[in-house]
Amino acid sequence: MLKQMLRTKPIVDHSGSGLKKCLTAFDLALLGIGCAIGTGIFVLTGIAAATQSGPAVIISFIIAGVASGFAALAYAELAASVGGSGSAYGYSYVAFGEFIAWVMGWILLLEYGVGAAAVANGWSGYFTGTLANFNIYLPEALTKAPMVGGIINLPAFAIIWTLTILLIVGVKESARFNNIIVVIKLSTIAIFIALSIGHLNTDNWQPFMPFGWFSTMEDGKNIGILAGASLVFFAYFGFDAVSTAAEEAKNPQRDLPIGLLASLIFCTIIYIIVSGLLTGVVHYTELNVASPVAFALSKIGYTWSSTLVATGVLAGLITVLLVLMYGLTRILFAMSRDGLISPVFSEVNPDRQTPTKVILMCGLIVSIVAGFIPLGELAETVNIGTLASFVMVCVGVLVLRIRQPNLHRPFKNPWNPLIPVLGILSCGALMAFLPTSTWIRFGVWIMCGIGVYFLYSIRHSKLR
Ligand code: ALA
Repeated sequence: MLKQMLRTKPIVDHSGSGLKKCLTAFDLALLGIGCAIGTGIFVLTGIAAATQSGPAVIISFIIAGVASGFAALAYAELAASVGGSGSAYGYSYVAFGEFIAWVMGWILLLEYGVGAAAVANGWSGYFTGTLANFNIYLPEALTKAPMVGGIINLPAFAIIWTLTILLIVGVKESARFNNIIVVIKLSTIAIFIALSIGHLNTDNWQPFMPFGWFSTMEDGKNIGILAGASLVFFAYFGFDAVSTAAEEAKNPQRDLPIGLLASLIFCTIIYIIVSGLLTGVVHYTELNVASPVAFALSKIGYTWSSTLVATGVLAGLITVLLVLMYGLTRILFAMSRDGLISPVFSEVNPDRQTPTKVILMCGLIVSIVAGFIPLGELAETVNIGTLASFVMVCVGVLVLRIRQPNLHRPFKNPWNPLIPVLGILSCGALMAFLPTSTWIRFGVWIMCGIGVYFLYSIRHSKLR
């Protein structure tokens, strides 16, 4: 049994997997941007500035961006040399063996599934808010989960199903849709920058670091720039979804590193500008609101633009959801192909060339979670999973350099082992800044995964 748990998988050529190879480096970069820019910058910036970092939320974004940058370089090396649609899961299988790979896959399911459900909830909030601006009011029972006094969060439920259908229609069509919405989202950000830049008041940046670097309050809440960094890290989660599209990229060796790094650098620059302007036009103490970007604009007198920006944010959150759902289906697809979950999930529909069944199952589960469970507080749970996967990918680079020194690496990290080691240290530190309650939830999820492994996966694994 131990032998099987530790057995690694050879690197396989997936060129005959049946998935359509149609994504370019540009599509991949937009896929990353489409998933990354969302709730993190549009909602969490305000919360982090008001409660954890103050105007120094800019530094929180830089810290989280640098940690993600080290991980992005590690992802680029493994995505180009190992490939496959399973992302960190697939790389762990090759580097560490089946058991760690399973745990990694299990973490990724949490990350993408809970992440999608959480963003759908955020989308629903903006949606009902925007309808209210036009004097259309949905019954409260249909916009809230049962635990918070409603029956179902119908908009959250419906948006997940809309995207599920889109993914079934086909990946190229979905990528095209993604590209259009990314342009709308970036235009929204451009409008915000153009309107607010003239109202920048550097007095608002005083005091710059009201909460210091890091401390823990009596109620267990962590505050300070570093705690803020571990919260706004949510804004970077998603660019790694680019690596799950490896089997659908036209020229993965060249396009994946470009797509990963381009999307990360672009997002970091946008986050620094937006968070700087936001805290520069409104005092950080006022930013703990559901839509800080729209709020800031109305505060400086552009009331008409609040609805416009909210509409852009709605479109922006759709692309985040689309890429999260896409990543989720592809990770399940890869796990199923390895026999760790039912083979049903790796069947590709011959007409559509998409894994229809797994997409439907994801749509069903995520829509139920999104519709019936209030998930606001789970952003940190998503973050701990993402950071854990980043750490494992960095360790994977180091292990594979030793185990398979002659592996063909079209993209190599410079100054090895410096970059992966810095990635492990920085992402590990961000994990440490998350609250204890998050660690407990994460531990419970991992225990459940280990249970499933020993009850099902170990007996059905193709490696057996
Ligand atoms: N990074 C994505 C967001 O901020 C998940 O919404």
